Amino acid sequence: MFQLTEEHLAVKEAARQFAQNELKPGVIERDSHMKYPTEQVRMMAELGFLGMMVSPEYGGGGMDTLSYVLAMEEISKVDASCAVIMSVNNSLVCWGLETYGTEEQKRKYLPKLASGEWIGSFCLSEPEAGSDATSQRTTAVDMGDHYLLNGTKNWITNGGTSQLHLVMAQTHPDKGHKGINCLIVETSWPGVVVGAKEDKLGIRSSDTHTIMYNDVKVPKENRIGDDGFGFKFAMKTLSGGRIGIASQALGIAAGAYELSVAYAKERQAFGKPIANHQAIAFKIADMATDIEAARLMVYRAAVLKDQNADYDQAAAMAKLIASEAAMRHTVEAVQIHGGYGYVKEYHVERLMRDAKITQIYEGTSEVQRIVISRNVLNGGLYV
Ligand code: CAA
Repeated sequence: MFQLTEEHLAVKEAARQFAQNELKPGVIERDSHMKYPTEQVRMMAELGFLGMMVSPEYGGGGMDTLSYVLAMEEISKVDASCAVIMSVNNSLVCWGLETYGTEEQKRKYLPKLASGEWIGSFCLSEPEAGSDATSQRTTAVDMGDHYLLNGTKNWITNGGTSQLHLVMAQTHPDKGHKGINCLIVETSWPGVVVGAKEDKLGIRSSDTHTIMYNDVKVPKENRIGDDGFGFKFAMKTLSGGRIGIASQALGIAAGAYELSVAYAKERQAFGKPIANHQAIAFKIADMATDIEAARLMVYRAAVLKDQNADYDQAAAMAKLIASEAAMRHTVEAVQIHGGYGYVKEYHVERLMRDAKITQIYEGTSEVQRIVISRNVLNGGLYV
């Protein structure tokens, strides 16, 4: 269904060079001290990685989803924290705005986001609305010419650094999910409060915060779509986001695999490289096979999106298989490295910690199974 073009390969190579040369040197230090990669994000902006799929008329790279996935994979092999910053900005914020925003909203906000002058956050999760995303408690009360926004959002990626939030909030509680709106909120507006930074297991140099909205006045023209479109907007946008996180998971798995192959060829035990012991060779064979399967599914989901075909199920499947592979094989990578795998210097323990989040955010593995099973049981593609 797809063939990588010269352009795709050039994007992949540019991302690989950037990741290996610019991200790798400080990645252990940033992870240890939860240090936000300010300089690295600036470089990603300069290289065009923050608005890859945004059309050139709004200042973006005008690339397809497959190019974005290839870049995400290479960056995630080295620094999954930088990858999630990039993914939320590209897939959730820029794509959501460009696809469903008004011309005025796009002209006002996209050039800033695509250039990296501004970074965006996607604010759906709440203390009591994670997988059950319809249970929004944040309210957007219709005041005529504006909405009055109140509530708390949890686990917000880029929460301490973003200048723009896409916030899901309930306007008509009697209508359930059909009463939810998505509002574009500038973080400089009065009433936007950034809460504590989370001290996380993995992706530690990305910036995750709780956000509070206290009587924030949001102009009516900052609502995305018709009144009540917010939940569909979130679901549609998250489907594309899942392709981004699938490629992050794929990159984490592939990064651990590359390190394991190199180590296994070099490390001697019982008179030969450990790669020549079947116990290790079989682990590497399983890694290679699972990663290749995940890669094909991730690329396929990206291509379906580029073809404007239905990609919800393919995205959920790609995220499920890639995140499970990332978790399983980063654990194996630590095992292959033995004691060295358990210390920071060899990178694989970090990749193992980073892998876990890919089974949780933008829909847990269980949520992906809900999406897939409902689709399949209702006569989806694979029946
Ligand atoms: N496209 C369009 N519409 C969709 C849709 C999609 N992909 N998926 C669902 N909908 C619509 C349904 O058609 C339905 O609309 P109607 O009532 O008009 O028919 C409506 O949305 C409600 O759908 P469901 O009945 O399927 O809703 P549900 O309550 O059963 O939940 C769910 C389904 C799949 C579990 C969903 O709630 C979900 O995806 N939850 C996980 C949320 C999530 O991924 N959060 C991640 C937070 S963001 C994040 O992590 C970003 C970050 O910072 C890294």
